[in-house]
Amino acid sequence: MKTALTGIKPTGIPHLGNYLGSIAPTIKLSEDNKVLCLIADYHALITIKDKKVMEENTLKLAATILACGLDKNKLLFRQSDIPQIFELCFILNCFTAKGVLNRSHAYKTMVEKNIKEEKDPDTGVNVGLYEYPILMAADILSFGTDLVPVGFDQLSHVEIARDIAIRVNSEIGEVFTIPSPKITEGVKTITGIDGRKMSKNYDNVIPIFDAPETIRKRISKIVTDSKTPEEPKDPDTCNIFSVFKHFATMERIEQRRKDYLNGGLPYGKMKDELAQTLIDEFSEKKKYYDELIGGPEKIENILQRDGREASKIAETTLKQIKSKLGIK
Ligand code: TRP
Repeated sequence: MKTALTGIKPTGIPHLGNYLGSIAPTIKLSEDNKVLCLIADYHALITIKDKKVMEENTLKLAATILACGLDKNKLLFRQSDIPQIFELCFILNCFTAKGVLNRSHAYKTMVEKNIKEEKDPDTGVNVGLYEYPILMAADILSFGTDLVPVGFDQLSHVEIARDIAIRVNSEIGEVFTIPSPKITEGVKTITGIDGRKMSKNYDNVIPIFDAPETIRKRISKIVTDSKTPEEPKDPDTCNIFSVFKHFATMERIEQRRKDYLNGGLPYGKMKDELAQTLIDEFSEKKKYYDELIGGPEKIENILQRDGREASKIAETTLKQIKSKLGIK
């Protein structure tokens, strides 16, 4: 069995983009790998400094992951419950050239945005953001991780972790497993209701566990072109179809594809069908989600129990590297 590590930041209420992009692939991986699922609250701290928001996001993220079915071969824990990660992070700092951090996606995106807006390139960049990839490397390298399932936007960070691991091993001898990124094919980018990448930053997300009416309302807002019901339509550029194809059965996808091309299928009807498909898909999971949210002690117990296990693994790694460096 290989070890896969997924990290998810509790920066918002989980939506379909999170589900398809990281939660579902993580659950799939747990079928034949050992999965460590880390709630990256310290990474979220870079932007969130509100106690209530942090606690609520963490709880809802954990409940979503559990309700969606992550229960075997797994450890689900909070990054902040593993102090060893932060000790390792400083050690890794000392093996990493400062310039490497300029390659980080998180930092580059912010700088590019500032330049575009004609601001100083480092406006709003705190040291936490600059350090982001090293903390992520510490997450990955603490647990002997073989695989890191990520979207394209995180690839540069995994490559930095990999480079750091190779560098440390070559300087002081084998301590780290060399991690490889695993890009989830087919779900590279999930389209939001406005046609851009689904992201809470664009306010275009489709929630997973909201009330059915809210989901219907949200889906009714999906942006389409203005073709009449009779006109033939292009499924491959349609924002409704692009979500639908991830959830319907093969037969139904093929049928609707034909209906699009032949004409006669109104967008409104397709929206109703998508909403119902999603509500059905998540209705069982929603029951479990609501139960978990209603009794958060259960979630807290799981996080703490799994956190203790994860902490033992991280401690072994940390001891090993410290002993090679003469650090007590
Ligand atoms: N940076 C990741 C993201 O924003 C979250 C993350 C934190 C992560 N630590 C990780 C991902 C370790 C993979 C492995 O999506």
